[in-house]
Parts: sequence; C-alpha cells; structure tokens
Amino acid sequence: MKNDQWNEVDDYIEETLVGSDDALQAALDSSAAEGLPAIAVSPAQGKFLHLIARLLHARSVLEIGTLGAYSTIWLARALPAGGRLLSLEVNSHHADVARKNIARAGLSSVAEVRLGAALETLPTLRHEAPFDVFFIDADKVNIPEYFRWSIDLGRSGSVIIVDNVVRDGALADPASKDEAVMGVRRLHEMLRNEPRVSATTIQTVGVKGYDGFTMAVVN
Ligand code: SAH
Ligand code: DHB
Ligand code: MG
Repeated sequence: MKNDQWNEVDDYIEETLVGSDDALQAALDSSAAEGLPAIAVSPAQGKFLHLIARLLHARSVLEIGTLGAYSTIWLARALPAGGRLLSLEVNSHHADVARKNIARAGLSSVAEVRLGAALETLPTLRHEAPFDVFFIDADKVNIPEYFRWSIDLGRSGSVIIVDNVVRDGALADPASKDEAVMGVRRLHEMLRNEPRVSATTIQTVGVKGYDGFTMAVVN
C-alpha cells in the first residue's frame, strides 16, 4: 500500500531537509536507465543512514546489497578522511552501475563494491574487520545469516541496521508463507534470545510504502 500523503510528506522532507545533488540524482537516474529496480532507500532514509554513521564517528562501513550505490553514496559521505566502505553485490550489472555512480560521486577511494554472493564473501572479510556500521539490504531470506555475520565482523559498539523488515505489516503474521517475511520473522526470533546485541525495530511510512528497519548495537 502506498499513500499519497506519505509521498507528499516525504517529498516535503526531501525538499526542506535532505536535498539532493548531481551525484545522488545521477545514481538514481542511471539506475533507472540501466534497468535496475527502483528500490533504493528513500532520500530521507539515505540521510538517516548518513547521520547514524556520523553520530557514531564511523570509520568503516559494511553494506550488504549495493544496487546502484545510492545508499552507498550517503554512507560513504559520512566517513572521515581514510574511512572505508565495502559493499557486497551479487549482480554484476548492478555492481558495474554502482561503481560508475561511486566514481561520479568522487568516492572511488572510499567505497568499494565487491562482487559475489554475500554469504560467500562474508567469511573472507575477517582481516578487514571490525566494521563500525552494517547496513543489511540484500535478499531478505538470508537476513538472519547476514545479521550473525555482522555480529562476528563487528565489535562492541558496532551498529547493525536491517532494511525492509516490516513489509506492510506482514512482520507480525505468523502464518505468512512469504520467504522474505519468514526471513524477517526469523531475525526477530533470533534477536529475542541474542544476548550479544540490543535491538529494536521502527516502523516507517513514506515513498517506499509501509515498512521499517531494525537497529541493533553490539553489546
Ligand atoms: N542498498 C541499496 C538497495 C539494495 S537492493 C540502496 O538502498 O540504494 C538489494 C540488492 O541486493 C540488489 O542489488 C541485489 O542484486 C542484491 N543482492 C541480492 N541477493 C544478494 C546476495 N545473495 N548477495 C549480495 N547481494 C545480493
Ligand atoms: C525490495 C528490496 C529492498 O531492499 C527494498 O528497500 C524494497 C524492495 C525488493 O526486493 O522488492
Ligand atoms: Mg531496502
């Protein structure tokens, strides 16, 4: 479900507080022109990710699910000189588009896209850990596994954000047979008994409809 008022308010927030610029707009435009799905985070959400990374003074970010690098650019821009962002992407066309968008944003020395299925790449990242911020935004079935890897590749104080966990409210439907819904429900069941993190989930509405994100800090 999408609601006209949610769109109007998100547009107003973008216009007043978030803004855009050539690199962000080009990331969205080239993604559309190259046939990528229009599922990047909204401008307000991109800025939110940016603010989280800034308020943590993050120096390293691991993103799982790059698409055209829209969220990547928001996060990479939050990093200080010498900061590093690694983004994992399974689709080589998405990775190509993303790399061009990162270059256009002047962030090629900050943000790297690594091609491959995230579950295959994650076990190779121990020598690049710990990461300060994790943004989990790839296939939803594997969210619990991505979350476990994020704990492993984090440190006390690392923050893990998981996109798209409310799914039009289906998060609370135990009868759902949708694989993505089952994935986000398994995440919540796992977090119920996970002493290594403290977490909550916030519901959101806006240009992306009714959804939400989980945020956790590693204890
Ligand atoms: N974070 C992006 C949106 C990501 S969309 C933004 O907000 O701008 C989800 C992306 O995850 C897609 O590009 C998809 O190809 C990728 N993906 C799906 N399954 C994956 C997997 N197993 N490993 C890595 N990336 C995956
Ligand atoms: C989808 C994926 C996303 O990460 C998102 O934010 C919205 C939709 C999807 O796969 O449909
Ligand atoms: Mg998403």
